[in-house]
Amino acid sequence: MIRVVTGGAGFIGSNFIFHMMDKYPDDRLVCIDSLTYAGNLSTLKSVMDKENFRFEKIDIRDRDAVYKLFEEEKPDVVINFAAESHVDRSIENPSIFLETNIMGTSILMDACIKYNVGRYHQVSTDEVYGDLPLDRPDLFFTEETPIHTSSPYSSSKAGADLLVLAYHRTYGLPVTISRCSNNYGPYHFPEKLIPLMIINALHDKDLPVYGAGENVRDWLYVEDHCKAIDLILQKGRIGEVYNIGGHNEKKNIDIVKIICAELGKPESLIKHVTDRKGHDMRYAIDPTKIHSELGWLPETKFEDGIKKTIKWYLDNEDWWKDIISGEYQKYYEEMYSNR
Ligand code: NAD
Ligand code: DAU
Repeated sequence: MIRVVTGGAGFIGSNFIFHMMDKYPDDRLVCIDSLTYAGNLSTLKSVMDKENFRFEKIDIRDRDAVYKLFEEEKPDVVINFAAESHVDRSIENPSIFLETNIMGTSILMDACIKYNVGRYHQVSTDEVYGDLPLDRPDLFFTEETPIHTSSPYSSSKAGADLLVLAYHRTYGLPVTISRCSNNYGPYHFPEKLIPLMIINALHDKDLPVYGAGENVRDWLYVEDHCKAIDLILQKGRIGEVYNIGGHNEKKNIDIVKIICAELGKPESLIKHVTDRKGHDMRYAIDPTKIHSELGWLPETKFEDGIKKTIKWYLDNEDWWKDIISGEYQKYYEEMYSNR
Protein backbone atom coordinates (compact mmCIF):
# COMPACT_ATOMS: atom_id res chain seq x y z
CA MET A 1 0.00 0.00 0.00
CA ILE A 2 1.35 3.41 -0.97
CA ARG A 3 -0.04 6.46 0.81
CA VAL A 4 0.62 10.10 0.00
CA VAL A 5 0.25 12.43 2.99
CA THR A 6 0.23 16.16 2.24
CA GLY A 7 1.14 18.74 4.89
CA GLY A 8 3.07 16.11 6.85
CA ALA A 9 5.65 18.58 8.16
CA GLY A 10 2.93 20.39 10.11
CA PHE A 11 1.27 19.61 13.44
CA ILE A 12 -1.38 16.97 12.74
CA GLY A 13 0.15 15.62 9.52
CA SER A 14 3.42 14.77 11.28
CA ASN A 15 1.61 13.04 14.14
CA PHE A 16 -0.40 11.09 11.53
CA ILE A 17 2.81 10.02 9.77
CA PHE A 18 4.26 8.74 13.07
CA HIS A 19 1.05 6.82 13.77
CA MET A 20 0.91 5.26 10.29
CA MET A 21 4.65 4.39 10.06
CA ASP A 22 4.37 2.68 13.41
CA LYS A 23 1.17 0.81 12.66
CA TYR A 24 1.91 -0.19 9.05
CA PRO A 25 5.69 -0.73 8.98
CA ASP A 26 5.58 -2.57 5.64
CA ASP A 27 3.66 0.13 3.76
CA ARG A 28 5.20 3.01 1.84
CA LEU A 29 4.47 6.57 2.91
CA VAL A 30 5.25 9.62 0.79
CA CYS A 31 5.00 13.04 2.39
CA ILE A 32 4.64 16.16 0.28
CA ASP A 33 4.85 19.55 1.95
CA SER A 34 5.89 22.97 0.64
CA LEU A 35 7.43 23.86 4.04
CA THR A 36 5.61 27.13 4.65
CA TYR A 37 6.27 28.96 7.92
CA ALA A 38 4.19 26.21 9.60
CA GLY A 39 6.10 23.26 8.14
CA ASN A 40 9.23 22.06 9.84
CA LEU A 41 11.44 19.34 8.38
CA SER A 42 13.14 18.71 11.73
CA THR A 43 9.78 17.41 12.98
CA LEU A 44 10.15 14.44 10.62
CA LYS A 45 13.73 13.55 11.49
CA SER A 46 12.81 10.25 13.20
CA VAL A 47 11.31 8.86 9.96
CA MET A 48 13.38 10.66 7.35
CA ASP A 49 15.92 7.86 6.85
CA LYS A 50 13.45 4.99 6.78
CA GLU A 51 13.43 3.04 3.52
CA ASN A 52 9.66 3.10 3.19
CA PHE A 53 9.45 6.89 3.69
CA ARG A 54 9.97 9.61 1.11
CA PHE A 55 9.75 13.37 1.59
CA GLU A 56 9.33 15.80 -1.31
CA LYS A 57 9.14 19.57 -0.99
CA ILE A 58 6.13 20.12 -3.24
CA ASP A 59 3.45 22.78 -3.20
CA ILE A 60 -0.01 21.30 -3.74
CA ARG A 61 -0.77 24.33 -5.96
CA ASP A 62 1.96 23.18 -8.36
CA ARG A 63 0.06 20.90 -10.75
CA ASP A 64 3.12 19.72 -12.70
CA ALA A 65 5.04 18.77 -9.56
CA VAL A 66 2.04 16.98 -8.06
CA TYR A 67 1.38 15.02 -11.29
CA LYS A 68 5.08 14.08 -11.58
CA LEU A 69 5.07 12.70 -8.04
CA PHE A 70 1.85 10.74 -8.65
CA GLU A 71 3.27 9.38 -11.94
CA GLU A 72 6.34 8.11 -10.03
CA GLU A 73 4.55 6.74 -6.98
CA LYS A 74 1.11 5.63 -8.27
CA PRO A 75 -0.40 6.02 -4.77
CA ASP A 76 -3.33 3.94 -3.52
CA VAL A 77 -4.49 6.54 -1.00
CA VAL A 78 -4.07 10.32 -0.61
CA ILE A 79 -4.69 12.06 2.71
CA ASN A 80 -4.75 15.85 2.48
CA PHE A 81 -3.62 17.74 5.59
CA ALA A 82 -1.89 20.55 3.67
CA ALA A 83 -3.54 23.87 4.42
CA GLU A 84 -3.13 27.36 5.69
CA SER A 85 -4.57 26.68 9.13
CA HIS A 86 -4.49 29.80 11.31
CA VAL A 87 -7.70 31.85 11.60
CA ASP A 88 -5.88 35.06 12.66
CA ARG A 89 -3.62 34.94 9.61
CA SER A 90 -6.65 34.39 7.35
CA ILE A 91 -8.18 37.61 8.69
CA GLU A 92 -5.00 39.51 7.73
CA ASN A 93 -4.47 37.86 4.32
CA PRO A 94 -7.28 35.67 2.94
CA SER A 95 -5.94 35.03 -0.57
CA ILE A 96 -3.29 32.42 0.24
CA PHE A 97 -6.01 30.50 2.13
CA LEU A 98 -8.14 30.36 -1.01
CA GLU A 99 -5.18 29.34 -3.14
CA THR A 100 -3.88 26.52 -0.96
CA ASN A 101 -7.05 25.30 0.70
CA ILE A 102 -9.33 25.40 -2.34
CA MET A 103 -7.15 25.39 -5.47
CA GLY A 104 -4.58 23.05 -3.91
CA THR A 105 -7.33 20.59 -2.99
CA SER A 106 -8.74 20.60 -6.53
CA ILE A 107 -5.27 19.97 -8.02
CA LEU A 108 -4.72 17.02 -5.69
CA MET A 109 -8.09 15.56 -6.66
CA ASP A 110 -7.37 16.08 -10.37
CA ALA A 111 -4.18 14.08 -9.82
CA CYS A 112 -6.19 11.37 -8.05
CA ILE A 113 -8.51 11.06 -11.03
CA LYS A 114 -5.65 11.11 -13.57
CA TYR A 115 -3.67 8.42 -11.72
CA ASN A 116 -6.68 6.36 -10.61
CA VAL A 117 -6.10 6.73 -6.86
CA GLY A 118 -8.33 4.41 -4.81
CA ARG A 119 -9.17 6.88 -2.03
CA TYR A 120 -8.91 10.60 -1.40
CA HIS A 121 -9.37 11.73 2.20
CA GLN A 122 -9.89 15.40 3.04
CA VAL A 123 -8.91 16.53 6.54
CA SER A 124 -11.46 19.22 7.34
CA THR A 125 -12.59 21.08 10.43
CA ASP A 126 -15.60 21.68 12.67
CA GLU A 127 -15.21 25.39 11.82
CA VAL A 128 -17.14 24.82 8.58
CA TYR A 129 -20.31 24.67 10.72
CA GLY A 130 -19.77 28.19 12.10
CA ASP A 131 -20.44 28.52 15.82
CA LEU A 132 -23.03 27.70 18.46
CA PRO A 133 -24.46 30.07 21.11
CA LEU A 134 -23.08 29.82 24.64
CA ASP A 135 -26.58 29.65 26.15
CA ARG A 136 -27.60 26.49 24.23
CA PRO A 137 -25.41 23.71 25.67
CA ASP A 138 -27.89 21.21 24.22
CA LEU A 139 -26.77 22.03 20.63
CA PHE A 140 -23.94 20.18 18.85
CA PHE A 141 -22.57 20.02 15.29
CA THR A 142 -23.74 16.90 13.46
CA GLU A 143 -22.79 16.00 9.88
CA GLU A 144 -26.19 17.43 8.87
CA THR A 145 -25.55 20.87 10.40
CA PRO A 146 -25.55 23.44 7.58
CA ILE A 147 -22.23 24.91 6.47
CA HIS A 148 -22.16 28.46 7.88
CA THR A 149 -18.67 29.90 8.06
CA SER A 150 -17.25 32.93 9.89
CA SER A 151 -13.62 33.47 8.85
CA PRO A 152 -11.75 33.38 5.54
CA TYR A 153 -10.02 30.24 6.90
CA SER A 154 -13.25 28.37 7.62
CA SER A 155 -14.78 29.57 4.35
CA SER A 156 -11.82 28.21 2.40
CA LYS A 157 -12.08 24.86 4.21
CA ALA A 158 -15.83 24.77 3.52
CA GLY A 159 -15.18 25.58 -0.15
CA ALA A 160 -12.75 22.66 -0.29
CA ASP A 161 -15.28 20.31 1.34
CA LEU A 162 -17.94 21.22 -1.20
CA LEU A 163 -15.47 20.63 -4.00
CA VAL A 164 -14.54 17.20 -2.58
CA LEU A 165 -18.20 16.17 -2.51
CA ALA A 166 -18.65 17.56 -6.02
CA TYR A 167 -15.69 15.51 -7.33
CA HIS A 168 -17.30 12.43 -5.80
CA ARG A 169 -20.69 13.06 -7.40
CA THR A 170 -19.47 14.39 -10.75
CA TYR A 171 -16.39 12.25 -11.42
CA GLY A 172 -17.00 9.33 -9.05
CA LEU A 173 -13.80 10.03 -7.08
CA PRO A 174 -13.84 7.78 -3.97
CA VAL A 175 -13.66 10.38 -1.20
CA THR A 176 -14.17 10.70 2.54
CA ILE A 177 -14.09 13.84 4.68
CA SER A 178 -13.40 14.19 8.40
CA ARG A 179 -14.32 17.31 10.37
CA CYS A 180 -12.45 17.47 13.64
CA SER A 181 -12.55 19.80 16.63
CA ASN A 182 -9.50 21.63 18.07
CA ASN A 183 -6.42 19.41 18.40
CA TYR A 184 -3.60 19.76 20.92
CA GLY A 185 -0.39 17.81 21.53
CA PRO A 186 3.26 17.59 20.38
CA TYR A 187 4.52 19.69 17.43
CA HIS A 188 1.62 22.18 17.65
CA PHE A 189 2.87 25.40 16.03
CA PRO A 190 3.50 28.15 18.64
CA GLU A 191 1.00 30.59 17.09
CA LYS A 192 -1.97 28.52 18.35
CA LEU A 193 -3.61 28.99 21.78
CA ILE A 194 -2.19 26.11 23.83
CA PRO A 195 1.48 26.20 22.70
CA LEU A 196 1.47 30.01 22.69
CA MET A 197 0.31 30.11 26.31
CA ILE A 198 2.77 27.40 27.40
CA ILE A 199 5.72 29.15 25.76
CA ASN A 200 4.75 32.65 26.96
CA ALA A 201 4.17 31.39 30.50
CA LEU A 202 7.60 29.72 30.50
CA HIS A 203 9.07 33.15 29.66
CA ASP A 204 6.84 34.95 32.22
CA LYS A 205 5.37 36.93 29.32
CA ASP A 206 1.78 38.23 29.07
CA LEU A 207 -0.83 35.60 28.22
CA PRO A 208 -3.01 37.37 25.61
CA VAL A 209 -6.61 36.16 25.96
CA TYR A 210 -8.91 37.50 23.23
CA GLY A 211 -11.88 39.36 24.71
CA ALA A 212 -13.36 37.89 27.89
CA GLY A 213 -12.01 34.41 27.11
CA GLU A 214 -15.51 32.92 27.36
CA ASN A 215 -15.26 31.29 23.91
CA VAL A 216 -15.53 27.52 24.02
CA ARG A 217 -13.48 25.00 22.03
CA ASP A 218 -13.84 21.19 22.03
CA TRP A 219 -10.26 19.90 22.58
CA LEU A 220 -9.02 16.53 21.30
CA TYR A 221 -5.57 15.00 21.78
CA VAL A 222 -3.92 14.80 18.35
CA GLU A 223 -3.27 11.03 18.50
CA ASP A 224 -7.01 10.42 18.85
CA HIS A 225 -7.61 12.45 15.69
CA CYS A 226 -4.95 10.43 13.81
CA LYS A 227 -6.50 7.13 14.92
CA ALA A 228 -9.93 8.33 13.79
CA ILE A 229 -8.62 9.16 10.30
CA ASP A 230 -6.91 5.76 10.09
CA LEU A 231 -10.25 4.12 10.97
CA ILE A 232 -12.15 6.17 8.38
CA LEU A 233 -9.60 5.08 5.75
CA GLN A 234 -10.16 1.43 6.71
CA LYS A 235 -13.89 1.31 7.30
CA GLY A 236 -15.47 4.65 6.37
CA ARG A 237 -18.18 4.73 3.73
CA ILE A 238 -17.22 6.40 0.45
CA GLY A 239 -18.80 9.82 -0.08
CA GLU A 240 -19.43 10.31 3.63
CA VAL A 241 -18.48 13.01 6.13
CA TYR A 242 -17.43 12.00 9.67
CA ASN A 243 -17.29 14.45 12.59
CA ILE A 244 -14.50 13.81 15.13
CA GLY A 245 -14.59 15.16 18.68
CA GLY A 246 -14.53 13.93 22.23
CA HIS A 247 -17.09 16.03 24.16
CA ASN A 248 -14.36 18.02 25.86
CA GLU A 249 -15.58 21.62 25.80
CA LYS A 250 -13.51 24.20 27.65
CA LYS A 251 -13.53 28.00 27.82
CA ASN A 252 -10.32 29.64 26.63
CA ILE A 253 -9.81 31.37 29.95
CA ASP A 254 -10.03 28.02 31.76
CA ILE A 255 -7.44 26.48 29.41
CA VAL A 256 -5.05 29.34 30.17
CA LYS A 257 -5.63 28.97 33.93
CA ILE A 258 -4.95 25.23 33.72
CA ILE A 259 -1.65 25.95 31.93
CA CYS A 260 -0.69 28.52 34.61
CA ALA A 261 -1.46 26.00 37.37
CA GLU A 262 0.48 23.17 35.68
CA LEU A 263 3.54 25.41 35.20
CA GLY A 264 3.28 27.06 38.62
CA LYS A 265 2.85 30.50 37.04
CA PRO A 266 0.60 33.28 38.42
CA GLU A 267 -2.74 34.06 36.74
CA SER A 268 -1.69 37.72 36.90
CA LEU A 269 0.17 37.01 33.63
CA ILE A 270 -3.22 36.81 31.89
CA LYS A 271 -3.96 39.92 29.83
CA HIS A 272 -7.32 40.42 28.11
CA VAL A 273 -6.67 41.88 24.66
CA THR A 274 -8.81 43.05 21.72
CA ASP A 275 -11.03 40.27 20.47
CA ARG A 276 -10.55 38.37 17.18
CA LYS A 277 -12.78 39.81 14.42
CA GLY A 278 -15.86 37.63 13.89
CA HIS A 279 -14.74 35.40 16.77
CA ASP A 280 -16.70 32.11 16.90
CA MET A 281 -18.28 31.59 20.34
CA ARG A 282 -18.58 27.85 20.75
CA TYR A 283 -17.61 24.69 18.86
CA ALA A 284 -19.03 21.34 19.98
CA ILE A 285 -18.97 18.12 17.99
CA ASP A 286 -21.55 15.35 18.12
CA PRO A 287 -19.37 12.28 17.36
CA THR A 288 -22.28 9.77 17.32
CA LYS A 289 -21.77 8.77 13.67
CA ILE A 290 -18.08 7.84 13.91
CA HIS A 291 -18.73 6.07 17.20
CA SER A 292 -21.73 4.04 16.11
CA GLU A 293 -20.55 3.25 12.55
CA LEU A 294 -16.81 2.79 13.09
CA GLY A 295 -16.48 2.22 16.86
CA TRP A 296 -14.17 5.22 17.40
CA LEU A 297 -13.84 6.72 20.86
CA PRO A 298 -11.17 9.12 22.12
CA GLU A 299 -8.60 7.47 24.40
CA THR A 300 -6.77 10.39 26.02
CA LYS A 301 -8.54 12.36 28.75
CA PHE A 302 -7.88 16.11 28.68
CA GLU A 303 -6.35 16.02 32.19
CA ASP A 304 -3.71 13.54 30.94
CA GLY A 305 -3.30 15.01 27.46
CA ILE A 306 -2.57 18.52 28.66
CA LYS A 307 0.04 17.21 31.13
CA LYS A 308 1.70 15.16 28.36
CA THR A 309 1.62 18.19 26.05
CA ILE A 310 3.19 20.54 28.59
CA LYS A 311 5.85 17.94 29.35
CA TRP A 312 6.56 17.61 25.62
CA TYR A 313 7.15 21.39 25.31
CA LEU A 314 9.42 21.29 28.36
CA ASP A 315 11.39 18.35 26.93
CA ASN A 316 11.59 19.72 23.37
CA GLU A 317 12.74 23.30 23.79
CA ASP A 318 15.05 23.01 20.78
CA TRP A 319 12.09 22.41 18.49
CA TRP A 320 10.09 25.51 19.49
CA LYS A 321 13.04 27.78 20.34
CA ASP A 322 14.20 27.39 16.76
CA ILE A 323 10.77 28.43 15.50
CA ILE A 324 10.21 31.40 17.78
CA SER A 325 13.67 32.81 17.11
CA GLY A 326 12.98 33.36 13.39
CA GLU A 327 10.13 34.88 11.34
CA TYR A 328 7.77 34.16 14.21
CA GLN A 329 9.15 37.14 16.18
CA LYS A 330 7.91 39.50 13.49
CA TYR A 331 4.52 37.79 13.33
CA TYR A 332 4.14 38.04 17.11
CA GLU A 333 5.02 41.74 17.13
CA GLU A 334 2.55 42.51 14.34
CA MET A 335 -0.26 40.47 15.85
CA TYR A 336 0.09 41.29 19.54
CA SER A 337 1.87 44.60 20.15
CA ASN A 338 -0.64 47.38 20.96
CA ARG A 339 -3.48 44.86 20.72
P1 NAD B 1 -0.30 23.27 10.31
O1 NAD B 1 -0.44 24.69 9.91
O2 NAD B 1 0.44 22.92 11.55
O3 NAD B 1 0.40 22.47 9.12
C1 NAD B 1 0.06 22.67 7.77
C2 NAD B 1 1.14 22.01 6.90
O4 NAD B 1 0.75 22.18 5.53
C3 NAD B 1 2.52 22.67 7.05
O5 NAD B 1 3.51 21.67 7.15
C4 NAD B 1 2.69 23.46 5.77
O6 NAD B 1 4.03 23.59 5.35
C5 NAD B 1 1.87 22.64 4.79
N1 NAD B 1 1.39 23.43 3.66
C6 NAD B 1 0.75 24.63 3.70
N2 NAD B 1 0.50 25.07 2.46
C7 NAD B 1 0.95 24.09 1.60
C8 NAD B 1 0.97 23.96 0.20
N3 NAD B 1 0.45 24.90 -0.60
N4 NAD B 1 1.50 22.84 -0.34
C9 NAD B 1 2.03 21.87 0.46
N5 NAD B 1 2.07 21.96 1.80
C10 NAD B 1 1.52 23.06 2.37
O7 NAD B 1 -1.78 22.70 10.33
P2 NAD B 1 -2.43 21.58 11.26
O8 NAD B 1 -2.94 22.20 12.49
O9 NAD B 1 -1.53 20.41 11.31
O10 NAD B 1 -3.71 21.21 10.37
C11 NAD B 1 -3.64 20.19 9.39
C12 NAD B 1 -5.00 20.05 8.74
O11 NAD B 1 -5.98 19.73 9.72
C13 NAD B 1 -5.49 21.34 8.06
O12 NAD B 1 -6.13 20.98 6.87
C14 NAD B 1 -6.49 21.92 9.06
O13 NAD B 1 -7.47 22.66 8.39
C15 NAD B 1 -7.06 20.66 9.68
N6 NAD B 1 -7.55 20.77 11.06
C16 NAD B 1 -6.75 21.29 12.05
C17 NAD B 1 -7.22 21.30 13.37
C18 NAD B 1 -6.37 21.83 14.50
O14 NAD B 1 -6.86 21.95 15.63
N7 NAD B 1 -5.10 22.16 14.30
C19 NAD B 1 -8.48 20.78 13.67
C20 NAD B 1 -9.26 20.27 12.62
C21 NAD B 1 -8.78 20.26 11.33
O1 DAU C 1 -11.75 23.80 15.48
C1 DAU C 1 -10.72 23.38 14.65
C2 DAU C 1 -9.78 24.53 14.35
O2 DAU C 1 -9.06 24.80 15.53
C3 DAU C 1 -8.85 24.25 13.19
O3 DAU C 1 -9.61 24.09 12.02
C4 DAU C 1 -7.83 25.37 13.02
O4 DAU C 1 -6.89 25.03 12.01
C5 DAU C 1 -7.10 25.55 14.33
O5 DAU C 1 -6.18 26.62 14.24
C6 DAU C 1 -8.09 25.82 15.45
O6 DAU C 1 -8.74 27.11 15.29
P1 DAU C 1 -9.02 28.10 16.54
O7 DAU C 1 -9.19 29.45 16.01
O8 DAU C 1 -10.07 27.53 17.43
O9 DAU C 1 -7.59 27.91 17.31
P2 DAU C 1 -6.60 28.95 17.98
O10 DAU C 1 -5.58 28.15 18.72
O11 DAU C 1 -6.13 30.00 17.03
O12 DAU C 1 -7.53 29.68 19.06
C7 DAU C 1 -8.25 28.92 20.02
C8 DAU C 1 -9.09 29.91 20.82
O13 DAU C 1 -8.21 30.74 21.61
C9 DAU C 1 -9.89 30.89 19.96
O14 DAU C 1 -11.14 31.14 20.60
C10 DAU C 1 -9.04 32.17 19.95
C11 DAU C 1 -8.34 32.13 21.31
N1 DAU C 1 -7.00 32.73 21.37
C12 DAU C 1 -6.07 32.32 20.46
C13 DAU C 1 -4.77 32.84 20.48
C14 DAU C 1 -3.76 32.39 19.46
C15 DAU C 1 -6.67 33.66 22.36
O15 DAU C 1 -7.52 34.00 23.20
N2 DAU C 1 -5.40 34.17 22.38
C16 DAU C 1 -4.45 33.81 21.47
O16 DAU C 1 -3.32 34.37 21.53
